[in-house]
Amino acid sequence: MKGQRVLITGGTGGLGLGVVPAILAQGAELTIPYQKESEVERLKHHLSATEFSKIRFVAANLLNEAVVEQLIDDMGRVDVLIHLVGGFAMGKTHEYAYEAWKQDFDLNLHTTFLACKHSLRKMLEQGYGRIVTVGSRGAVQPVGQLASYGASKAAVVALTKAIADETKGTNITANCVLPSVIDTPANREAMGTTEADRWVKPESLAQVICFLASEAAQDLRGATIPVYGSI
Ligand SMILES: NC(=O)c1ccc[n+]([C@@H]2O[C@H](COP(=O)([O-])OP(=O)(O)OC[C@H]3O[C@@H](n4cnc5c(N)ncnc54)[C@H](OP(=O)(O)O)[C@@H]3O)[C@@H](O)[C@H]2O)c1
Repeated sequence: MKGQRVLITGGTGGLGLGVVPAILAQGAELTIPYQKESEVERLKHHLSATEFSKIRFVAANLLNEAVVEQLIDDMGRVDVLIHLVGGFAMGKTHEYAYEAWKQDFDLNLHTTFLACKHSLRKMLEQGYGRIVTVGSRGAVQPVGQLASYGASKAAVVALTKAIADETKGTNITANCVLPSVIDTPANREAMGTTEADRWVKPESLAQVICFLASEAAQDLRGATIPVYGSI
């Protein structure tokens, strides 16, 4: 990935703490859109000053198509898109607010669509690209009280497979990782640390993502890779 332009959305989130250093170690030129300054500060504490100085941070709400288009146009080219943005909310279906359902689809699916759409535009011009999206185990093994999460992540899988089909015959690929529970600061805070050694480490998931984002993964298309750790 040396010299390649890599866009990591959600790079300041919990998973980003593992993915960003791994991608920087490959010699890539990184752009990270963010919303909260506090998360940029948190990432800063996980990186050396030299690593941090190599990242271009851009304040951007990825639900605004004009903002996504500008972000990607400003990059000039996009060799790799790693779309980490996403999140979950819980609730029984018969009690779930329609507004909350739509917000979950915004966060998980619609950000993925916009980031993929505009990155693909560049990748098709360039004739090269790697797209890595993040689904969830819940996309293929849905569980109760997480219907909107499972449904929106299943849609991320479908979108990724559709892109893989559309880009057959090119050097552009799209694949999706399906994590179970990731060992992030937010999960430790919410669930304690008793089970944490069985969760997937961000650094471990980062290695899978790095391979999917590499030139070597040219023949892997539309894969959904379970990365479940020991749970
Ligand atoms: N954590 C887990 O156990 C787990 C398990 C399975 C799958 N996953 C998936 O893995 C991915 C990363 O999870 P995570 O734990 O790192 O989540 P996270 O800590 O909540 O990070 C999500 C990131 O997305 C950004 N984001 C959200 N909405 C945005 C928007 N409209 N525009 C721009 N940025 C936006 C957030 O930035 P701001 O905070 O600044 O808005 C944050 O940096 C997600 O797709 C998640 O669904 C996570």
